[in-house]
Amino acid sequence: MGAGNDIGYEEMMVSLYDMAVKATANAYAPFSGFRVGAALLAESGRVYSGVNVENSSYGATICAERTAFVKAISEGERRFVAIAIAADAEEPTESLPCGICRQFMYEFAPDIYVITGKDRDHLNVRKLEELLPLGFVLDKQEV
Ligand code: THU
Repeated sequence: MGAGNDIGYEEMMVSLYDMAVKATANAYAPFSGFRVGAALLAESGRVYSGVNVENSSYGATICAERTAFVKAISEGERRFVAIAIAADAEEPTESLPCGICRQFMYEFAPDIYVITGKDRDHLNVRKLEELLPLGFVLDKQEV
């Protein structure tokens, strides 16, 4: 991308959050009514959306963050820059990633930026390492 096309850091975070909001339309959340969308920016520049996919057997539910990661990983992505998460709930809510998602993301991107907020004017940007200090990792044989 040439310098002329570069968008600012803040603009990029807000635009990723907007994509997460848009993704909430596809959430499958008939049990909780808590619709979550995620937008994951890979180092390649591609953005992968994700939504929560609930199940009648509640424990089989998949969160929006993991959906986005699984989509990206299965397309060959391994390196990530930022993930935005948004919820469409009754009250404006800052939807923080659950513990399972934190560990799941830590596997691939301990230093990823996590963008959350109750709306686009109240965003928080944190590093995953702040949300999950000392996450678990095994030595890797391949990447
Ligand atoms: N949920 C997510 O999609 N991401 C999270 O990090 C927290 C929870 C979903 C799971 C479930 O469908 C709904 O929110 C209520 O827990």
